[in-house]
Amino acid sequence: MEERNVGRVVPESWGLRKEVHMASVAVETRKGFTPGKIAGLQLRNRIIRAGCFEGMCEGGSCSDLLIEHHRAVAKGGTAMTTVAYCSVSEEGRAYGHEMWVRKEILPDLRRLTDAVHKEGAAVSVQLGHCGYFASKADTGFQPMGASRKFNLFRISFPKVMTEADINKVRDQFVQSALLAREAGFDAFEIHCGHGYLLAQFLSPYTNHRTDIYGGSLENRMRFPASVVKAVREAMGPAFPVMVKMNMTDGIKGGIEIEDAVAIAKRFEAEGASALVPSCGFTSKTPFMMLRGNVPTLEFVAADKSFMRRFGLLFFGRFMVQEYHYNDLFLMQDALKIVKAVKIPVVLVGGVCSVNDLETAMSAGFEFVEIGRAIIKDPDIVNKWQKGEAMASDCDHCNRCVAVMNGGPVYCVCNTKGPLKRRFQPEGWPGTRRA
Ligand SMILES: Cc1cc2nc3c(=O)[nH]c(=O)nc-3n(C[C@H](O)[C@H](O)[C@H](O)COP(=O)(O)O)c2cc1C
Ligand code: SF4
Repeated sequence: MEERNVGRVVPESWGLRKEVHMASVAVETRKGFTPGKIAGLQLRNRIIRAGCFEGMCEGGSCSDLLIEHHRAVAKGGTAMTTVAYCSVSEEGRAYGHEMWVRKEILPDLRRLTDAVHKEGAAVSVQLGHCGYFASKADTGFQPMGASRKFNLFRISFPKVMTEADINKVRDQFVQSALLAREAGFDAFEIHCGHGYLLAQFLSPYTNHRTDIYGGSLENRMRFPASVVKAVREAMGPAFPVMVKMNMTDGIKGGIEIEDAVAIAKRFEAEGASALVPSCGFTSKTPFMMLRGNVPTLEFVAADKSFMRRFGLLFFGRFMVQEYHYNDLFLMQDALKIVKAVKIPVVLVGGVCSVNDLETAMSAGFEFVEIGRAIIKDPDIVNKWQKGEAMASDCDHCNRCVAVMNGGPVYCVCNTKGPLKRRFQPEGWPGTRRA
């Protein structure tokens, strides 16, 4: 038996070898390619492009490159593409090339949603606030968070959020959701995972408050749950409000799966339409959500800060933990969320083949989100559907992750030559800035 299938909750006969499974199931009968629904939104198949930071929003705006990027993903066959990390306010950004939702960029966002719709796909936007991941040097704003905790990642201490700050940020989520709907987005993904602000409240690792927003799980859920509820109330019952959340932070004293099950139920009760269980804490365990290689040298090359480059070069190997990659690496834990809620659960993490897609469907997931396999080949879903390919050849080198820090994201392995990380692959929309 291949390692990739160990412990799968699927019939013995499934997926032990890709070829065996592929031979036995005709393309048109596979659930992964049938329409599905999230709240009132009908999707043409079960494949959503995961929010993968594009690095295409210089000055926090929606660029032509970003529009072309998502048009290409939509053309490639996914049912819905996700515009990644989009802040609900200017100060909620960790980096200057992250977008924040505001009236002035609505015409450009409208061009993006129109372009995706013309290709027959839907488009979602990931709404977030980075909390204490902000850096005054990068965005000009003092970071704020649940508690005063030193952040080695940005070398800063956050301001502790007051009740007024909490109410203000909740309102910013609602206002951003309203603007995004006006711009034509079909769904939202509220970011409650990966250590961003709402996750900073959920996690006992970062939340040491003694007021009604800290201490017990009930209290730590109060702010994130209120955001989901407020957005749901503003959108009405049919609009898809998805929530990306952690099943584990991967750090001592952080969220673990038992808490995550309770958190999932609470988000469902507050009106979430679907859940996307993930893991990892960007400042501490960033490769937990990705698995595979840690491309230290590429990170050094892409970072603009001399201090960080220096730190990464000499201490990167010790600072950033590597996690072994398996296909469907989050499935076993995510099944606990499937069992706990009635709303659709979206499997993200290592969905790399038609076999993985069907394994997820048969295990009880309604949708999958795919990141790297679509960065590798934006047309992969069409190829899978037509039977032209059965698996992605992404090798999880994670060099695209390093690249996005310094400019537009692309698959480094699609290019040739010793300096290949400097060039966009031929045919990929747009070119990297000089
Ligand atoms: C280049 C890159 C950028 C990413 N940026 C984000 C992001 O902005 N927000 C987020 O929630 N996850 C982000 N992720 C994580 C993905 O959404 C996804 O959870 C992860 O890549 C696992 O899925 P995969 O195995 O299909 O790539 C990013 C991943 C990659 C590869
Ligand atoms: S650079 Fe390409 S091959 Fe490497 S992880 Fe990213 S998409 Fe996959």
